[in-house]
Amino acid sequence: MADAARLSAPYPDGVPDPVPDPVPDPALVARLRAAGCVFAEEEAEVLRSSAASPGHLEQLVRRRVAGEPLEYVVGWVAFDGGRVEVDPGVFVPRQRTAYLVELAAPLLTRGDTVLDLCCGTGALGLALARRVAGLVVHAGDVDPAAVACAARNLAEVGGTAVVGDLASALPPVLRGTVAVIVANVPYVPTGAVALMPPESREHEPRGTVDGGPDGLDLLRRVAGLAPAWLRPGGTVLSEVSLAQAPAARDAFAHAGLVATVHHDEEREATVVSGRRSL
Ligand SMILES: C[S@@+](CC[C@H](N)C(=O)[O-])C[C@H]1O[C@@H](n2cnc3c(N)ncnc32)[C@H](O)[C@@H]1O
Repeated sequence: MADAARLSAPYPDGVPDPVPDPVPDPALVARLRAAGCVFAEEEAEVLRSSAASPGHLEQLVRRRVAGEPLEYVVGWVAFDGGRVEVDPGVFVPRQRTAYLVELAAPLLTRGDTVLDLCCGTGALGLALARRVAGLVVHAGDVDPAAVACAARNLAEVGGTAVVGDLASALPPVLRGTVAVIVANVPYVPTGAVALMPPESREHEPRGTVDGGPDGLDLLRRVAGLAPAWLRPGGTVLSEVSLAQAPAARDAFAHAGLVATVHHDEEREATVVSGRRSL
């Protein structure tokens, strides 16, 4: 959360940002550390910069100390250099997923259409539209809470979000016209969900992470639908684990796409892409 600490507070116009305080309150840091927060200094600054008053800060700190994810407590996360609103119960965008955005952005130009499937907060579509002006972003998620959050986030860039299974609720007229599909689907194998950190297990709905027996159930379905929605030369990109990459690449190749695995060692991020031939 070090990035988040450098951004301004998430309040609408009319609510003043607190005066920046570069030195975190040692008592607050100690409280957070005692509660098990590893990045206590950074979290203290995020909490302080998100609080409108000392009383509000105390409310936020109590929620955080009780184990609620920081992003739910403050209502936002820093992602790909910008701020994304996050509602409780909606998947918190992970920093490693900015790698997928970095891979997708150079494939896009003004006027292109992007689908953000399994959009959660809409962070991927939003980040792409912030990087490339003039994109048309359509997002979808099966969870109405996620769609409400994504619709709010995407309003900034004129994007829309709809409730539905994968692409089922998206306008059929988009078929064959899409430049890029970003689909950060749930990809944790069912048997590994119990091994996830408690903050995720206890606060993020299981349906946001559980990808079936080998984690690739949703990815295979995305591979199956992508060729019909992509324009010739268009590309679908999904994040997976490094261990899943060969099977994910095979799924995209089996769907007739030109499949490639991308890996960023530093962020431990792996993305498989599939390009529809021209
Ligand atoms: C791992 S989260 C990713 C969210 C977001 N793309 C991100 O990277 O922050 C997966 C999302 O897929 C959604 N989801 C799960 N099954 C789905 C389905 N069949 N159709 C559409 N969305 C689904 C979940 O509700 C969740 O928001």
